Amino acid sequence: MLEMTPRAPRVRIDVLFAADDRRVALLDEVFWSLRETPKQIAPRWLYDERGSELFDEITRLPEYYPTRTEWMILEGCAAEVAELTGATTLVELGSGTSEKTTLLLDALHAVGTLAVFAPVDVSEEILSQSANAIAARYEGIGVEAVVGDFEKHLHSIPKGSPRLLAFLGSTIGNLGPEHRARFLRAVSETLAADDHFLLGIDLVKSPERLEAAYNDSAGITEAFVRNALTVLDRELGSRFDQEGFSFEARWDAENEWVELGLRSLRAQTVALPVLDTDVSFGDGELLRIEVSSKFRREGIEKELAAAGLTVERWWTDPDGDFGLLLATPAVSASETP
Ligand code: SAH
Ligand code: TRP
Repeated sequence: MLEMTPRAPRVRIDVLFAADDRRVALLDEVFWSLRETPKQIAPRWLYDERGSELFDEITRLPEYYPTRTEWMILEGCAAEVAELTGATTLVELGSGTSEKTTLLLDALHAVGTLAVFAPVDVSEEILSQSANAIAARYEGIGVEAVVGDFEKHLHSIPKGSPRLLAFLGSTIGNLGPEHRARFLRAVSETLAADDHFLLGIDLVKSPERLEAAYNDSAGITEAFVRNALTVLDRELGSRFDQEGFSFEARWDAENEWVELGLRSLRAQTVALPVLDTDVSFGDGELLRIEVSSKFRREGIEKELAAAGLTVERWWTDPDGDFGLLLATPAVSASETP
């Protein structure tokens, strides 16, 4: 169902994922994901209003280098991205506050091509705030925000030619390998020949720095991860005991991801009244809240190629901490003369 909520002039918010559908999806998904090994919760459920606020605080932590590094890279390459893409429509997946995106918007505005900005996020609160802020900042452009799930709704996001699809913040790293392959395939299929995909990825580096980024001394990351239990309590009517779980963020060298989770400090059973069931944790069992995969250039280029995307440009910071790449749909055999 498509609802349209009129806001400020030039701001339209299409709700593809209304609160009711979201709740049904959460209940359905959590029922199964708490039965997997390890038990887990999908990243999209972490960003309720409080989760989005905590994430915004994470981006400003001294230990959390990705946001400011990506900002620096974008400052250096935004003009080139604008020249190369000539985009009339900028779509941003998992847009959050869209702060870094203003660098792209400025550059596209400067070359004079930009007509529409379309931020896409599951979190309606943060989306409507940022959509209105962007509309106020750029007078000439239309803002077509979409409350939707980028794993499900790519087919219904605004078109426009040429189009630039941006996915920043290494949010792609929060999808496991199979979800990522499926997601990249869907991105590739939604792009026309003259469209581009701009992807931000955090790169493999020393385990010390990686673990420090997710074990901040202010404890904001811990609060963000623990908020997952608050979300479950609210939606499932459960009463998770926060003190019965310890926060953990650990580099997994084999999978090259930081695994974030809550470890049960004892054997315990938690009732899930809304699902009419319960869930049991063994002593020391991990509830995985999120993985944050780290990438290498060769690896992500291969993943993109497998999905039908060719990397056209690659930027990084002087220390090689974070990568930003611009990809286009590969020309398929049937299209070559
Ligand atoms: N792009 C911003 C925010 C990254 S945080 C930055 O680079 O700092 C990840 C964002 O993606 C959050 O705003 C969250 O609400 C959103 N998100 C997570 N899973 C999503 C999904 N499946 N579909 C749409 N948005 C999602
Ligand atoms: N995409 C971000 C990352 O992987 C999301 C993130 C930052 C995050 N800190 C987190 C996710 C803490 C879960 C827990 O870095």
